[in-house]
Amino acid sequence: MEDLSPRPGDLEPIETASRDEISALQLTRLKTTLAHAYANSPFYRAKFDAHGVHPDDLKTLADLSKFPFTVKTDLRDTYPFGMFAVPQKDIVRIHASSGTTGKPTVVGYTKKDIDTWAGVVARSIRASGGRPGDIVHVAYGYGLFTGGLGAHYGAEKLGCTVVPISGGMTERQITLIEDFKPRIIMVTPSYMLSILDEFRRAGIDPRETSLAVGIFGAEPWTNAMRQEIEQAFDMHAVDIYGLSEVMGPGVANECVETKDGLHIWEDHFYPEIIDPVTGEVLPDGSEGELVFTSLTKEALPIIRYRTRDLTRLLPGTARSMRRMEKITGRSDDMIILRGVNVFPTQVEEQILKCKGLAPHFQIELTRSGRMDAMTVKVEAASGHETDEARAHAAKELAHHIKSVIGVSTRIDVGDPGSVERSAGKARRVIDNRPKG
Ligand code: DLL
Repeated sequence: MEDLSPRPGDLEPIETASRDEISALQLTRLKTTLAHAYANSPFYRAKFDAHGVHPDDLKTLADLSKFPFTVKTDLRDTYPFGMFAVPQKDIVRIHASSGTTGKPTVVGYTKKDIDTWAGVVARSIRASGGRPGDIVHVAYGYGLFTGGLGAHYGAEKLGCTVVPISGGMTERQITLIEDFKPRIIMVTPSYMLSILDEFRRAGIDPRETSLAVGIFGAEPWTNAMRQEIEQAFDMHAVDIYGLSEVMGPGVANECVETKDGLHIWEDHFYPEIIDPVTGEVLPDGSEGELVFTSLTKEALPIIRYRTRDLTRLLPGTARSMRRMEKITGRSDDMIILRGVNVFPTQVEEQILKCKGLAPHFQIELTRSGRMDAMTVKVEAASGHETDEARAHAAKELAHHIKSVIGVSTRIDVGDPGSVERSAGKARRVIDNRPKG
């Protein structure tokens, strides 16, 4: 694979600024954000007043811990536009995330917000090894989801040629990759596996494509999956993170030269790690729930938003901004099976160890009597479809899961193609346990 380290002059000065410079900028921007939220968002004014805090109470970055958290239900309760801090006429874009229950979460952007967002996505693509002039195949979904348009504006801002194909119609994805020869692909890692299957079905060697870099995010994926994709395509696979409430994709991104976790673009997003139970701020290096405060947003300033994502903050390496470790999972995705905490990413890691299995999977939870049971539905890898091979693979996976994660599971090894596919985020857990 190509060495894609940045060349002198490639980076913005803030990416290599000293910690002191970064903290000073953050403090100034944080004060402005709190004042803006308090003055222009009735939601935040009421929340701060009820909590007995005022923007003037923030003298240092650590003082942020005095302020109340914002949670997803706050956005639902103020549906659709109740948290906006600018008049509706100044909002140039709306996005929304569907969620599984109830009303969608609606977010808005001013013209300047869209420009800030494009800037951090452009920086993310550059960190991934992208350069002006590259052709970028954007297979994240376009529409209310932030993935497609977020990637699109960032790629254009960097000076790339964008192919806005969106997700789905996998055969056409292959045709356009073959014909347009993109250097970069932006897509969910699970949909990249469907694209991989389609290349193989079409008899095209995926290692021979023009793709040099994949920028994968919107769902958790493991380093084992990175290796799988990098080997299959002979390309770099880097991680991009973000969430609509905070901006969209491009809140944090890995650097291709290190691939050691995601640098948070701290000049725009201030991170904290908290104990998910007590809400207490934890020191860098501790594992906990990631919380973000926006530092430059106009339409929807967001203060101490609880992401539910679990990770750790680590010092900067390829950039001076801090990193977050690859996300293990969301607290709401955690399965508690007979007292053991299980994340789908842990299951993914074990599946990738088994030669006879393809990397597509879903976890089904059922209950008989008072006992919860977990079934992992996977697929036989091509060439491993005989009954004997499947029985062997099932036994191997059950053994890995039992010895590494510590739970007993049923393994169901189906035919290639039998596990549900999605053109966007994969649905990893199906909970068929009776409610209540
Ligand atoms: O998924 C934004 C996005 C689009 C990010 C494209 C990256 C690429 P939401 O739909 O609001 O926004 O979902 C946000 O997805 O809280 C995480 O749980 C999860 N997530 C996003 N990126 C990653 C990642 C977009 N790289 C939620 N690793 C977040 C793990 C991720 N989980």
